[in-house]
Amino acid sequence: MASINLTINNKTYTVDVDPQMPLLWVLRDVVGLKGTKFGCGMSLCGACTVHFDGVAMRSCTLPVAAAAGAKNITTIEGISENIDHAVQKAWIELQVPQCGYCQSGQIMSAVALLKTNPRPTDADIDSAMMGNLCRCGTYTRIRKAIHRAAEIMG
Ligand code: FES
Ligand code: FES
Repeated sequence: MASINLTINNKTYTVDVDPQMPLLWVLRDVVGLKGTKFGCGMSLCGACTVHFDGVAMRSCTLPVAAAAGAKNITTIEGISENIDHAVQKAWIELQVPQCGYCQSGQIMSAVALLKTNPRPTDADIDSAMMGNLCRCGTYTRIRKAIHRAAEIMG
């Protein structure tokens, strides 16, 4: 066990955990931020995507000790104060989710994409989002919603 400082959604937390514990476990079970989901636990599905200093990253395989190096870890709860980020607005407008399980990871990847590429093409979207799996097959709506979010933002 070790005492580790983490900045999550611009708030500082000190957690007493095994340094090798995956960040996802700490987010959900120690800090209580349940919006980030567990899917595969092997960096294969994207359900656990968070931002590590603005860059989309899988939290299920990242040891919490490594996460301590981030200036800020952003989770789905930290994307906006009132669920009014352009990506969230587009997701609601186009009713993207089906079961919803993969969607916080999808949104985190979409937000990271639009930060570096404000006007992505279909090919850009497919390439940025291909690590985020959706068993309900909402890919077409996700692509439309990312284009819509780009319009709202810009
Ligand atoms: S739970 Fe992390 S990538 Fe699947
Ligand atoms: S909405 Fe069900 S897994 Fe993506």
